[in-house]
Amino acid sequence: MAAICFSLVSVFIFSLISGYSNALSVDYYHQTCPKAESTIRKAVKKAMMNDNTVPAALLRMHFHDCFIRGCDASVLLNTKGKNKAEKDGPPNISLHAFYVIDNAKEEVEAQCPGVVSCADILALAARDAVALSGGPTWDVPKGRKDGRISKATETRQLPAPTFNITQLQQSFSQRGLSMDDLAALSGGHTLGFSHCSSFQNRIHRFNTTTNIDPSMQPSFAASLRKICPIHNKVKNAGSKLDSSATTFDNTYYKLLLQGRSLLSSDQALLTTSRTKSLVSKFACSQEEFNKAFVKSMIKMSSITGGTEIRKDCRFVR
Ligand code: HEM
Ligand SMILES: *[C@@H]1O[C@H](CO)[C@@H](O)[C@H](O)[C@H]1NC(C)=O
Ligand SMILES: *[C@@H]1O[C@H](CO)[C@@H](O)[C@H](O)[C@H]1NC(C)=O
Ligand SMILES: *[C@@H]1O[C@H](CO)[C@@H](O)[C@H](O)[C@H]1NC(C)=O
Repeated sequence: MAAICFSLVSVFIFSLISGYSNALSVDYYHQTCPKAESTIRKAVKKAMMNDNTVPAALLRMHFHDCFIRGCDASVLLNTKGKNKAEKDGPPNISLHAFYVIDNAKEEVEAQCPGVVSCADILALAARDAVALSGGPTWDVPKGRKDGRISKATETRQLPAPTFNITQLQQSFSQRGLSMDDLAALSGGHTLGFSHCSSFQNRIHRFNTTTNIDPSMQPSFAASLRKICPIHNKVKNAGSKLDSSATTFDNTYYKLLLQGRSLLSSDQALLTTSRTKSLVSKFACSQEEFNKAFVKSMIKMSSITGGTEIRKDCRFVR
């Protein structure tokens, strides 16, 4: 299916701070830790040079953080004693690169001890990951606090890749996010990788009468079935989420329109007219996607929840 592209007048003025981001501000550390942002950016850049999967990991980590207890760095806490932390919960599959946040935190602590929260470091690192992958950049409102609670059982609150549009809408609206935010933020899948288990439902035993999700392009489904046979024995087998998985671009939306998305939750965006028209718009215009992504990222990353500044991002004091 070919996308019909309309020429769109691009508006470059991003609306920066949304009304409800109460305590957050873009110049939060101007006085107290002026070099925090450049230090974090350097740490992200350095890690990326050794490992090109780092940007995807940081972006997903921030999303998981914000969807459980708000963006409070709960995703960074380690399991302690009997309390199994979020990072050891079921959908932790492919969460990695926690060391990047540790390195950034250590350097920032050396400059301004006890000032910059782990939640802010993660929000900034996610922004840097996008920008350093060829995506847009933006001012991140800061002033988040870190939380003290992280529970593996709460990862059940994350949307599942098998969710339909109704379930996705519900998951997002519970966090003050709209269908437009869902359409734009799903574009995060322009970066990174998915394991077979996350799209297994679409390529084997789709339902009792059909093996393959008919909304998937047949040749694409066939190639995925080769990589992910039903009795898959290859550890970490899977596929890139889009064909340019280390570049932040609008390829994800172009492929989605061709039936070449991996997850049911991606495909679901084509099942309402509103989200479908946004997918078409973003497939046609990188600028429209960038603009919408920035706006929705600021909204998602402004869901707060913590109470303190952690010293070590893995442990509460
Ligand atoms: C709409 C609901 C969403 C669902 C159901 C979902 C689900 C998933 C799943 C299942 C994976 C693959 C995990 C694996 O098998 O390894 C994944 C990867 C990823 N997701 Fe999402 N996601 C959603 C929204 C988002 C959002 C809002 C973002 C960020 C803005 C995001 C960013 C990513 C990234 C970057 C990866 C690749 C991670 C890596 O390669 O390390 N996702 N997502
Ligand atoms: C994910 O959870 C498993 C099982 O609890 C754990 O062994 C693994 O270290 C976790 N992965 C990460 C990245 O924390
Ligand atoms: C989505 O899934 C839920 C739960 O399985 C189901 O009740 C609902 O009817 C589904 N909605 C659509 C639009 O398929
Ligand atoms: C299985 O999926 C196909 C394609 O969406 C549909 O036509 C068929 O009715 C489904 N069968 C069942 C039993 O749900």
